[in-house]
Order: sequence, then C-alpha cells, then structure tokens
Amino acid sequence: MKLFGNTKVVNNEIYFNGISVTELSKRFGTPLYILDEKNFINQINLFKENFASDVLETKLIYASKSLLNLYIAKIIYNENLYIDAVSVGEVFTILKSGFDPSRIYFHGNNKLKEELEYAIKEKVGTIVIDNKSEAYLLDKLLSDDDIQDVMIRLNPGIEAHTHEFITTAKSDSKFGMSIYEKETLNLIKYLSENKKFNFKGIHSHIGSQIFEKSSFFKEIESLCDYALNLKNLGIQVREINLGGGFGVYYTQNDRPLDLKVFLKEYIKYFEEYILKIGLDVESVAIEPGRALINQSVYALYKACLEKKCGERNYLFIDGSMCDNIRPALYGAKYEACVANRFNDSKEELYTIAGKCCESGDVLIKDIELPKHQEGDLVLVPSVGAYTYSMSSNYNKNLRPAMISVNEDAKVIVNRETLEDLIKNDLF
Ligand code: LLP
Repeated sequence: MKLFGNTKVVNNEIYFNGISVTELSKRFGTPLYILDEKNFINQINLFKENFASDVLETKLIYASKSLLNLYIAKIIYNENLYIDAVSVGEVFTILKSGFDPSRIYFHGNNKLKEELEYAIKEKVGTIVIDNKSEAYLLDKLLSDDDIQDVMIRLNPGIEAHTHEFITTAKSDSKFGMSIYEKETLNLIKYLSENKKFNFKGIHSHIGSQIFEKSSFFKEIESLCDYALNLKNLGIQVREINLGGGFGVYYTQNDRPLDLKVFLKEYIKYFEEYILKIGLDVESVAIEPGRALINQSVYALYKACLEKKCGERNYLFIDGSMCDNIRPALYGAKYEACVANRFNDSKEELYTIAGKCCESGDVLIKDIELPKHQEGDLVLVPSVGAYTYSMSSNYNKNLRPAMISVNEDAKVIVNRETLEDLIKNDLF
C-alpha cells in the first residue's frame, strides 16, 4: 500500500506528523477524515511552480466540489489560488471563509435563477456560462450598470478515457456548448456585444481522472484553434481555462502522470501552440480538484466485526458508503491497511464492508490484511476528493469528523451529532 505525505511507520504503527493512529482515534473518534495539511500545501506549490510561464499569466483554480469546508477554503485563499464553485452552497461556504468574491469562477450547467441572483449580489468574479438560456437569464437579472465578467463553457468533443460517469466532453454531454455548432458562435457574439457582459474567454473541462497526455494536448489545440477563429471574427479571447481532470493514484492499476514533469510540458505546449498559430491571450487557467487534494486526506475506521458468508470473509468497519460512495457509484478501487499493525503478515482475504443496508456498501473487495483483532484500525489513503463532498446521511449515519494534522492535530469539521439528524424536522 502506498502512503503519501507526512506519514511514517514507527513500531509497526502509522503516525501522522508524529501522532499515532491509535492516539488520533482516541482523541477524535472514528470514522475520521485526516487532512495532511503540509502535504496539501506542498501539492499546491507543485502546481504553482510547474504550471508557470514567462510569457503569460497562469491561474490555478481549485475545483471546490472535490472537497470544501471553511478551513480548506482558507488554505486555498491564503495560497493565492482562485476557486471554482458550482452551486450557491459552494459560493456561500467560500464567501463565509473570507474569500475575495472576485476570485470565484461560478460554473454549472443548470444554474438556478436564485443562484445567479446570489452570484450577482455577492459580486462573484466570473460566471462561466453554460448555455444560451442561462446567458439570456443572466442578461435579464443584471442591471444596466452591471458589467459582469463572463466566459463560455465549450464542449470540444474530446473523449478522455475515464469512467463514463465522469467524462464531460462527449458530443452528447450535458455540459457546455459544442465547438461544432453555429449556435455557439452566435452566443459568443451576443456575449461580446452586450454591454452588461465583459467577455473574458473560453473554458472546457474534458473529464476527470485522466491519464493520457494526448487528451490534454488535444484540448489545448482545439480551444486555441477556436479562439483563433474568434479572433478572426474580431472577438478577443483574453483567457483560456483548460479545466481539471489530472488523474491520481488509488491503486497499482493507476498510472498518473508525473505532474512535476507533465505540468511543465503542458504549459510549454500551450505557449508553443499559441505562438505557432499566432494567437495572443493574457492568461491560461487550469482547474484541478482531485490532483490537488486527493493524496492529502486519509480515512480512518475502526474494524468492528468479521463474518464469513460462503467464500466471502467480511470485515465490517464503522463507516460506510455514506462517507465514501465512490466504490458503489463508480466501482472505484482503494488500498487499505491495518494501521496499528502495519507490518503484520497479511494472512486473511477480506472484503471490507460498511454499515448501510445496501449490498453495494462495500469499500474494498478482496484485500489481504492481518487476521482481525479487537482494536484494529483500518486506514484508507487517497480519499481527499469526492468522498466527504459526496457524503450523505443514508440510514441516518453521521458524517465523520475531519481533522488537520500539522504541528498538532485539530478538528476542522465536527463530527455530526444525532441532534444534527433531526435539526430540520418539524413535527
Ligand atoms: N472543472 C470543472 C468544470 C469540473 O466539472 C470538474 C470536475 C473539475 C474542474 C475538477 O476535476 P478534477 O481535477 O477533480 O478531476 N465525482 C467524481 C468526479 C466528478 C468530477 C466533476 N467535475 C469522482 O468521484 O470521481
């Protein structure tokens, strides 16, 4: 199993910045989400240092849907990043953290009227328009004195090889406007001629958990060619936003790009391509979520009971698909270990399952672990992205607490309480 960041094995037990998992479980309980803050900041710096250019501005936008709470938003702001939001709830959380609204990119294929009104009221920096009806609606909602920065989300029709549920740029995808449709051009003309809009540029996001460089390079070519077409029509594209999608390691089957190398190649490819076709843009942005946060969060569970069902040997943990839906939803795979007995010989084949009334509530199928003993703690790495953010209260399970381990450990998101479960119930 691969460990990341500031974890160490001391006397057969995993430590986070000098604190053992046993101590963490005693102090904070389980299930527990553990943020390795230093590793997160290192990863942000890796992006900053390698996605950098001498000829144009580079922007790093954190896709907050991957993991968002006040603490994370504060880190993102302090590190001088921009942030992407797709709902009023995300915008609200980001603003509550003290974030400068002008650094927010507001996305979404189906922004509600109330959400657009909220974004206007709160002076959200950039609204990334997904479609024609949204543009007309926004026009109606803006007053005559407003000038709103907007971009348009384009669908370049590039198929990235990833899970069907997380591809976004196939021709029939619900996101953005196709670069092959005349209507898209008409919409851009409308945005660039309308006094209430300041048309900044174009955006695309071709999918998530992508490993092939070629998909990213194809996207650069396709967006830059499109921007050149616009230039020839007298419409200036000042910013190109290439979206996120950089794949990460979950198990040995994943072969992520080495970002230290790839990000340099990526920006160089962009610089050379615009030079080659004679395009000038002021800034280029990327919007990673998973590749920024995923490797800096671990989930810690108590192993509770075991049970043999035919050939299958279940190890039940105190968490469930409520705190990580990804295996049930996408067939996602994870690694895990017994963190308080890390090097013990792994003589049992277990299926780690949760507590929900769903046969699909299985975290890991067939994993070799030491024979279960009371007090065992199961640690799952690589759970920063799309786990807590997609969590639920199904079966009235409580959402776990989240802690940050830096010099010491502190709670950054409280564990839900039983009272939280009924706080909105009236009768
Ligand atoms: N920008 C836009 C417009 C997006 O829609 C997304 C992700 C991102 C950026 C960030 O993508 P990333 O760098 O994290 O791959 N729930 C799925 C992933 C859905 C991704 C949705 N959009 C999962 O658990 O794998």
